[in-house]
Amino acid sequence: MSSIVCHPIIKNGIATDARIKKQRPPPLVVARPRDLIQEACERLVLSDQQLRRIMVLMEKSMEQGLSGKKAAVKMLPTYVDAVPNGTEKGDFLALDLGGTNFRVLHIKLEGKETKMTGKIFRVPESIMRGTGEALFDHIADCMAKFMEENNLKDATKLPLGFTFSFPCEQDGLTRGKLVTWTKGFKASGVEGSDVVTLLRDACHRRKDIDIDVVALLNDTVGTLMACAFQENTCQIGVIVGTGTNACYMERLDRIPKLAGYVDEHNVTPEEMIINTEWGAFGDDGALSFLRTKWDDAVDRESINPGQHLYEKMISGMYMGECARVVLEDLAKQGLLFGGHSDAISTPHCFPTKFVSEIDSDLLEDDDRTFQKTYQILEDIGVEMITANDCANVAYVCSLISTRAAHLTAAGIAMLLNRINKKHVTVGVDGSVYRFHPTYPTLLDAKIAELIVGDIEYKLMLSEDGSGRGAALVAAVATRLKEEKLAAAATASER
Ligand code: BGC
Repeated sequence: MSSIVCHPIIKNGIATDARIKKQRPPPLVVARPRDLIQEACERLVLSDQQLRRIMVLMEKSMEQGLSGKKAAVKMLPTYVDAVPNGTEKGDFLALDLGGTNFRVLHIKLEGKETKMTGKIFRVPESIMRGTGEALFDHIADCMAKFMEENNLKDATKLPLGFTFSFPCEQDGLTRGKLVTWTKGFKASGVEGSDVVTLLRDACHRRKDIDIDVVALLNDTVGTLMACAFQENTCQIGVIVGTGTNACYMERLDRIPKLAGYVDEHNVTPEEMIINTEWGAFGDDGALSFLRTKWDDAVDRESINPGQHLYEKMISGMYMGECARVVLEDLAKQGLLFGGHSDAISTPHCFPTKFVSEIDSDLLEDDDRTFQKTYQILEDIGVEMITANDCANVAYVCSLISTRAAHLTAAGIAMLLNRINKKHVTVGVDGSVYRFHPTYPTLLDAKIAELIVGDIEYKLMLSEDGSGRGAALVAAVATRLKEEKLAAAATASER
């Protein structure tokens, strides 16, 4: 039978935080092995065996992607084959589009020092889902404003790094076709088109700004580069924010689809950063063995059903919604909120920041008063909240975030095992990694369990990879271009 003993905390003015404090809930439900909620949520707990299976399946999907066959994990070449050597300097512009905000940055690199000025612009939902032309006009408009305000309009064309955090099929450092939109974007006419051309066209349409795009990159690549600038053992870049993704340094001899590739210097590089686009892992059914009816519900209601299924079990855009559909189901089964599910039934009423806040109740609140949890439930309009409800909601949130951390750990551990170097730094960024109270620790602990041999790794928080990383990729590209011109000049003098 259920261990839920109801201590109603009714909301009509009698219930206050003080009352909750006095009414300590019994020990966390999680401690009671036969609890109905625990039973109902069993599938959200992943065993190490399941995580190891994920690692095998993901590597298989990656191998397929690298070979050029149709694969869920696309393994996109980035044409970034050199990390910064510390001599990069100069002035750069960086554009960063990857979520609800768009940033324009002016970056000065001087040795290990970076000076940045920037401005954040919102991307309204109407633009995210309007036409591609309107989206790129908005970007160009924001850029023009920034350049005007910072007296950059008359400056000679600054080299520009464009961080575009969506899957792009690149065939060079400055070209890339959008494979598919993710993270709630749906602007028409962009999928299949080169996003650098779309940006240039938008600048030409308004005639008052000119740009010199020297690099198009994914945010994971920026993250890797920004960390590599400080720590030359950095080989992996990971984002766990609105979306999730990873890139890593792969040996060219393990990228069959790039067989015969030579760069503009006629050289075959030894390695190249591969943008895995692991968010789409499972889109071919590989994750069916552990997906739940709740994951199906989140996917069904999303803007891109059937796509980016691994991302939908992990990232900030979906974590809250995933917790919400579990809570709604438990309420409908009569296991929460006295069986009242109305308040929790509104899609997206439970954003990921609630999961973080509730998880921090579990972490910080020794008395288990669940004040934040109560407040959140009350704010979204749940009518009958018991102390046990609070404990159970916190339990569900911790299951969802732990599952997300463990799924990510499987991906990172697989990459570490594959790279198989003694010391590897993993650059990580994104709002879930930065702001969720337990996610980084859970991630780290599980990676340590899943790696094999004597690999030593460390997770390093990347300082603004999307901005600084874009300038660094632009700087490396500019340095290599200058070196090439100098070499050509010397050759012609001979
Ligand atoms: C995109 C990736 C991106 C990640 C993190 C995903 O939805 O497909 O390209 O790196 O989000 O921003």
